[in-house]
Amino acid sequence: MNADDSPSPPMRFYKTYVQGFDEALGGGIPKGHVILVSGPPGTMKSSLAYNILYQNAIREDVKGAYLTLEQSKSSLEFQLSRMGMDMERVEDRVQIQDLSRIRLGMEELRGKARFGTPAERPWLDVLKRHIEDVKEGHPFELLALDSLPVLEIISGLRERRINLFQFFGWLKGLGCTSFVISEVSPDPNIVHDEDFLADGLLYLTMEKVGGLDVYRRMRCVKMRGVNHSTGIYTLEFKEGGFKVSQVI
Ligand SMILES: Nc1ncnc2c1ncn2[C@@H]1O[C@H](COP(=O)(O)OP(=O)(O)OP(=O)(O)O)[C@@H](O)[C@H]1O
Ligand SMILES: [Mg+2]
Repeated sequence: MNADDSPSPPMRFYKTYVQGFDEALGGGIPKGHVILVSGPPGTMKSSLAYNILYQNAIREDVKGAYLTLEQSKSSLEFQLSRMGMDMERVEDRVQIQDLSRIRLGMEELRGKARFGTPAERPWLDVLKRHIEDVKEGHPFELLALDSLPVLEIISGLRERRINLFQFFGWLKGLGCTSFVISEVSPDPNIVHDEDFLADGLLYLTMEKVGGLDVYRRMRCVKMRGVNHSTGIYTLEFKEGGFKVSQVI
């Protein structure tokens, strides 16, 4: 209840549609959150983030935008189609924006007069304006940004903490729920600034068990406002969908 005793508007949650995981999250991801999807290379961060947008489009008719800054769109689509996802089925709802050339110069954006020349406008501002433009034409509720290290490279790496703080604030102001993919070293003891700035943190790993077996794991390290499980789950992609099972 609010101070004036009027009921608060019901909170909107987005399901991850990872079987078994939404229950662990207590229903899903609160609307407006900025979620970090972190993990070492190859832990299925991109596939998971896209799958969340894909499933929400199919099941809830939710619009999404996936910005790939690192991997080319064709390489991402190849990976997703190999996993059985049919991008054409949701192409009117989930836009994949290929900004993988951003590091090479972002010719398309630079060409647009409103952005000015690169010397006049830092790349991060150009990117923000681009996302705002995309949102105007395609009002998405879910956004995936793949990935944070590339953002840092284009923003020049200087004053990392301040830049990240401002960027996360800007993301929250966009009024959507976002997934920011972040590549981290396998050392779980290293804590990053973004871990504090994000509202939620999903951590993906690959763990060697015994001499030969390697399992994919997923853990919700934090999710503001949610009484979530902090357990470590085994993550599998089977029969066209993600699922988790609790590690005993
Ligand atoms: N059915 C499947 N089809 C294709 N790849 C699969 C499948 N199941 C698991 N994978 C794995 O998915 C991995 C790639 O997933 P993805 O690109 O989402 O990971 P990532 O964490 O984003 O990687 P990167 O750090 O390179 O960005 C591959 O290395 C492959 O082992
Ligand atoms: Mg990836």
